[in-house]
Amino acid sequence: MDVESWKTAAADEAAKLVRDGMLVGLGSGTTVAKVIAALSRLNPNATYVVASSSSEKLAKDLGLKLSPLDGDRSLDITIDGADEVDPNFDLIKGHGGAHTREKIIAQAAKMVVIVVDRTKLVRRLGKIFPVPVEVLPFAKDYTMKRLAELGSRPVLKTKDNAPFVTDNGNYLVEAWFPKITNAAKLEQKINGLPGVIDNGLFAGLADLVYVGHERGCTVLRDKRSFLKFLRAQSEQPTKTKKD
Ligand code: A5P
Repeated sequence: MDVESWKTAAADEAAKLVRDGMLVGLGSGTTVAKVIAALSRLNPNATYVVASSSSEKLAKDLGLKLSPLDGDRSLDITIDGADEVDPNFDLIKGHGGAHTREKIIAQAAKMVVIVVDRTKLVRRLGKIFPVPVEVLPFAKDYTMKRLAELGSRPVLKTKDNAPFVTDNGNYLVEAWFPKITNAAKLEQKINGLPGVIDNGLFAGLADLVYVGHERGCTVLRDKRSFLKFLRAQSEQPTKTKKD
């Protein structure tokens, strides 16, 4: 599986959506890094609001014009990656800990485009990835207990034997739920817990999904095209050594 080239195919295609004069939100992660690289090559006369320090550094290095998020003008488009996408275009994001700002730039945008490789498409959220929850360090233990009461197995994310710290100076808890049946409801429930800043469930925010695969990029516009794509994938002949 050449997942990197699938991501590139989707990123290159999504970058073409950006036009002169647009104010564009950019999320974070390895796929967004490819979108940023594509934008630096296409070089539209656009301005970008980035959601993480890593995207900011890359965008600056590649010469993109950056702006803070202001209160007056909505973003024309936000382009972001995802950890999982389900048939309703509900998402799990935040494996890199950037979901709080990513959700803000998604909510601030007129259109949200998600860019993924085909391995990120799932029939039900939470099969592979836990739900990342950004929590206030002060309340970490208390909040983790409440997340367990919601039915999850909460695990504090660490880096170099210390708690992982987000760009906002908070901790990240990965909440493993056995079954996510209603993403919107769970998103609200988690956000209602004391000490939670925001969680990585994005219900009802994505408009289009650009999915990269062996044969290029397919744009998914609705549940029907999503399910058709999944069916076609499962009907693909598996490559053998002889091929
Ligand atoms: C960052 O915190 C995330 O929300 C990313 O958008 C998500 O994890 C996808 O990242 P990759 O493109 O690296 O898989």
